[in-house]
Order: sequence, then structure tokens, then C-alpha cells
Amino acid sequence: MAWLAPVPGTRVLDLRAGRGALTAAALGRDCRVTAVDCAPGMVERLAVQYPQVREARVMEVHRLEYPDSSFDLVCAGFVVHLLDDPATAVQEVRRVLAPGGCSPSPSRATSRTRRSGSSTGPSSGNSSP
Ligand SMILES: C[S@@+](CC[C@H](N)C(=O)[O-])C[C@H]1O[C@@H](n2cnc3c(N)ncnc32)[C@H](O)[C@@H]1O
Repeated sequence: MAWLAPVPGTRVLDLRAGRGALTAAALGRDCRVTAVDCAPGMVERLAVQYPQVREARVMEVHRLEYPDSSFDLVCAGFVVHLLDDPATAVQEVRRVLAPGGCSPSPSRATSRTRRSGSSTGPSSGNSSP
């Protein structure tokens, strides 16, 4: 999250949030965090541990129940290599990203989510996770 450096108010979706490592980091930067995980127990735990989260929901990464363009940043720590259907999940990530939003990949940065103009930041324009 330090590398992504989202600005306060950034709408963050933490996919497969698990115990909430990225959720906690985004909250620490005053982002508006939504956290989803397919395990009800993990979601309950997240909601209790991080009451500042706007929404903690049980959800499948392959079928995100959010409208198009809902988030500025979609993060997914230790997730992509575990997905059953990464292509579908990536399509969903692209769909829920707002124009100019980003999802971490080793390419370029956006001014919305990164303070400096590093060439190794998150990619923009509805990129893949
Ligand atoms: C490796 S952990 C995620 C770690 C977390 N992202 C972090 O950075 O600390 C994997 C999590 O993904 C959840 N999960 C597994 N398959 C999923 C799916 N298809 N949709 C949503 N969540 C899923 C599991 O319940 C588990 O909490």
C-alpha cells in the first residue's frame, strides 16, 4: 500500500481480503475501504476488527456485486495465483474500476493514487490486478 500510495478518500476494494492486511493499510491512509471475501467467518472478523470499513461482504471475486466504475483502486494481495478463473476475475476488476482507476501491476502510475510520478507504480485505465 505504501508503494501504491493512495490519496485520502480513494475508494478501495480489497478482494479476498482475508485477515485484512491491505484493508488495514488502506484505512491507515484514510481510504474508503470495501472488503470482500468468500468466507463468512473472515468477513465477520473483518467487520469487527475494522469498523471503519464501509462495507465488509461475503462475495465471490468472479462475480462482484458492485456496479460498473465503483472503485478507484482494486487490490488483491496473494490472490491471483490462487484463482480458479483469473480471466473472469480480471474482467470483473476492470468492470468495477472507475475510469483512471488502477489495480496493481508492474507498469505505470496514476496521479490519482500515487503522489510521485514513478514509472513503476500501479497501472491505470482499468488494468488487470
Ligand atoms: C491468501 S488469503 C488472502 C490474503 C489477504 N488478501 C492479505 O493480503 O492478507 C485468501 C483469502 O481468499 C478467500 N477466497 C478464496 N477464494 C475466494 C473467492 N473465489 N472469492 C472470494 N474470496 C476467496 C479466502 O477465504 C481467504 O480469506
